[in-house]
Parts: sequence; structure tokens; C-alpha cells
Amino acid sequence: MDIVVFGAGSLGSLVGGLLARVHEVTLVGRDPHVSRVRETGLHITGERTAHVHPDAVADGGNLAADLAIVTVKSFDTSDAADTLASGSFEAVLSLQNGLTEELLTTRLDAPVLAGTATYGARLLEPGQVECTGVGRVVLGALDGGTSSHAERIGKAFRDADIETLVASDMPRRRWEKLAVNAGINAVTALARVDNGALADGDAADVGHAAARETARVARAESVRLPNRVARDALDTVVEETAKNRSSMLQDVERDKRTEVDAISGVVVDKGDDHGIDVPTNRVLAGLLRAWESERGLR
Ligand code: PAF
Repeated sequence: MDIVVFGAGSLGSLVGGLLARVHEVTLVGRDPHVSRVRETGLHITGERTAHVHPDAVADGGNLAADLAIVTVKSFDTSDAADTLASGSFEAVLSLQNGLTEELLTTRLDAPVLAGTATYGARLLEPGQVECTGVGRVVLGALDGGTSSHAERIGKAFRDADIETLVASDMPRRRWEKLAVNAGINAVTALARVDNGALADGDAADVGHAAARETARVARAESVRLPNRVARDALDTVVEETAKNRSSMLQDVERDKRTEVDAISGVVVDKGDDHGIDVPTNRVLAGLLRAWESERGLR
């Protein structure tokens, strides 16, 4: 399969690197990482290893492929959609945080699929990404149900030895992931702790409250997500990724803009739409936005 990865950061590079073991993969990303990949190739180390040839890097516009995988940061989705729209793809799969698929769907002709990836990835230095945790990919039709594109992409991922589930209940899974991200990302970024710190104590209480609020908003959006399911999902991810530093914590540590708007912020916005109070997410979003403003990142 011909695959383009838009957003060759840590997760995009890892997924692209694993897929490149059996597929034709093109990476589109930012300097200094991609210019180093252009010189030396991409090296994946850690719990999974792979190497991608330097020729696999492209600038982004006017590309054609069977599949475009979108892994850009949520706030770069609009720019990525412009670039994607200049190319031609059979299908587009988002593996981003937040509910970014709506934007992609309104801007692209190709069918947009939703997906989640629980792999841990860390950019060691330009050109080198460490796989810090082997997880799995879940993907499927945005509105639920079956999709021949999803089946084909699922097989392509499995052929590359990536454990992949093709799911028919992506609406619930997207909100469950948002609840997990709302619980983990902001708390770990603000407290500067590994995901495992949410296993118990005050951090766990705050995380559970953020996840519970997200589940309540999901139900107002007609997605069946009981509080208990959101909470169990959070606990499972905390346990499975205990040693990981969340993507938002990595952003804060590198003084980069975070995905607060697409995670805690979207829970607040959609909560407001439905007149639902989400005090924990509101405080978490407010603190992160204050940090970003102070550093001139927003
Ligand atoms: O954004 C992240 O870091 C990940 O989505 C997750 C699941 C919170 C694990 O660190």
C-alpha cells in the first residue's frame, strides 16, 4: 500500500517507520527532524526497531497515495487539510488527539476514518525516535458501522505487525479517548509527572473528575459513554503507559504549544453548548492556556 504520513513527529514517525517495513511510506513533517531524515534516514529504536530510507521524505503538496495518515498536532489540522486537499488519496485516517476528524471531513473529498494509537513514542533527537511502549491501533468509520476502507487499512497495519482492531463503534471510542486524554494530559503536563502518577492519590482524583465530566458531555452528544467506562479506560491507560510522559507533558517540557484547546478546551466548549458544568476541565484548560500565553505560544 502507498501511504503518506502527515505529521512525522514522534508518533507519526513511529507509525510510519513500522509501516515502512512492508509498505511504501512517505513522511511529511517539520524541520529539523525531517531534514535530518532526508540526510540519514529515520531510525526507530526501543521496544520496536525500524529504519526508513532518506528518500521517504516529501514536502507535502500534490501527493497521491492509497492512504493519508494524519498525525499532526490538533492545532495544525486546518493547515494539514489544505495540503491534503491538493493531493489525491483513497482514504484519510486521523490518529490525532481531540475530535479533529470533523474538520478533515468538511474539507476533504476522501472518506475520513477515525483511529486511536496507544503506542508510546519519543523524539530522541532529529532523525531518531524511540518506541517507549507497544500498544495497538483501533480504527473505523467515523460515524460507526462497517467500512471496506477500514478493513483494508486494518489489514495493511497488521501486515506490518501492528496490532490493529477494526471497530464499528468509533463514536464511543473517540469520546472514550477524549476522556482519557482529558484525564491524563493536562494533569501530567501541569504537575510534570509520568502517566503512572495518576494511579492513586490527588492526581488520580483530578484525572477521574476530568474523565467523568467528559463522559457526561459525550452523553449529551448522544454517545453512550457511562462514567464507569470512561474511568476504567483512564485507569487502564494509566497502568499500561505508567512510565510514559504524555504528549502534552513533552510539549510543556520543550516549551511548545500544547493540544489543550482540542482536549480540555473542547470538553469545556461542548459542555457550554449543552449547559453542562465541567469545572475540572475548565480549571485545567485555564491553567494551561495561562502558561501558553505567558510564553507567547498562543
Ligand atoms: O497524548 C498522549 O500522551 C497519549 O494519548 C496518552 C494515551 C495519554 C498516553 O500518554
